[in-house]
Amino acid sequence: MTCLSFLCCRKLDSATRSPELDDELSGVHNVNLYSYKELRIATDDFSQAKKIGEGGFGSVYKGKLRTGQMAAIKVLSSESSQGVKEFLTEIQVISDVEHENLVKLYGCCVEGNQRILVYNYLENNSLAQTLLGKNHSQIQFSWRTRVKICIGVAKGLAYLHEEMRPHIVHRDIKASNILLDKDLTPKISDFGLAKLIPPEMTHVSTRVAGTIGYLAPEYAIVGKLTRKADIYSFGVLLIEIVTGRCNTNMQLPIDEQYILERTWQLYERRELVMLVDTSLNGDFDAEQACRFLKIGLLCTQDSPKLRPSMSTVVQLLIGEKKFDENNITKPGLISDVMDLKIRPNPKAKPDINNTSTNYTSSGSENLDSTSSTGNFSQATMTFTSVYDRSN
Ligand SMILES: Nc1ncnc2c1ncn2[C@@H]1O[C@H](COP(=O)(O)OP(=O)(O)OP(=O)(O)O)[C@@H](O)[C@H]1O
Ligand SMILES: [Mg+2]
Repeated sequence: MTCLSFLCCRKLDSATRSPELDDELSGVHNVNLYSYKELRIATDDFSQAKKIGEGGFGSVYKGKLRTGQMAAIKVLSSESSQGVKEFLTEIQVISDVEHENLVKLYGCCVEGNQRILVYNYLENNSLAQTLLGKNHSQIQFSWRTRVKICIGVAKGLAYLHEEMRPHIVHRDIKASNILLDKDLTPKISDFGLAKLIPPEMTHVSTRVAGTIGYLAPEYAIVGKLTRKADIYSFGVLLIEIVTGRCNTNMQLPIDEQYILERTWQLYERRELVMLVDTSLNGDFDAEQACRFLKIGLLCTQDSPKLRPSMSTVVQLLIGEKKFDENNITKPGLISDVMDLKIRPNPKAKPDINNTSTNYTSSGSENLDSTSSTGNFSQATMTFTSVYDRSN
């Protein structure tokens, strides 16, 4: 491993360093550089046995680094490889981020066509697999643990949105991007990654920039990417954590399939408590749980302007700030806007975990700025393909 911050004063392996590489590396600081060989050894040659997952960006392997540290090694799809300098500039932004609720990037590998990210390994997998997964996990998510997870994720996102300069819009807040360490402290992963994939690479993945149930309508439809789109996704996630169910579940009766629709119905009927995860066996603080659900509704309001900032969300969650609980407006639902209801087909069994979109907006990371690089027809295409799959 080579730490680029020491490049000037440290003689490097000539295999790693060429005049071209020197040029690419100038101006990049504090990014650890791993050799491909080291990562190959760490992962037993990227063996299947070491593979822990696969997402829109490529495959993830568990590996032991030379230092003895365990790492999650994410091999980005080779088609996504950018120029070294461009890649490292983005990596530097991610590398500089340090927060208890954000996954730590140790460094990367940029040999030849290879673009590999090396992260801190989190022992307890993602919320998608443990809390919402089909297979029962060993982990019992008590009410206290859920509160800690909700507040931790909110703090991590508030940090990206409000402390980082320039601000970072995550673009893909969802349960599979919330990892848990051995103490079940939540860590947001994959922030900053969307920028590593060139916008035209729509075929790289069907899951690059968001999963349908988490997408704010204004982002999905016109590609308007602001922090408010992340806040919408956070609201959906918050409701998932309290209810213990995925945002979309086609196995349920028709008016319960979409969690936001359901939450809104029960909010209007003042029966929100019915939504709280039954696996808690009633062992939860009902006032707090209903408040969290209402905060989820606040975050998913149709008008982005009405959604609170993430630092306000943190204050609301910890009870430092009050809000008018009777004055929440209806959530924005993509299905409403697009007049698109995915209905179960009696013949085909829809895969509820496959409600992803292949919509990839190249929206800017700029703070609350409109970037209408996506367009309506792109979104229509995307949702049509989702519709097709379920029919
Ligand atoms: N730092 C990590 N520590 C432990 N496991 C990880 C880590 N990063 C990723 N994983 C595992 O690898 C899996 C795949 O992650 P990846 O981010 O590639 O895909 P995803 O989150 O499922 O989808 P997407 O590509 O849309 O983010 C995760 O579900 C998680 O189980
Ligand atoms: Mg991920």
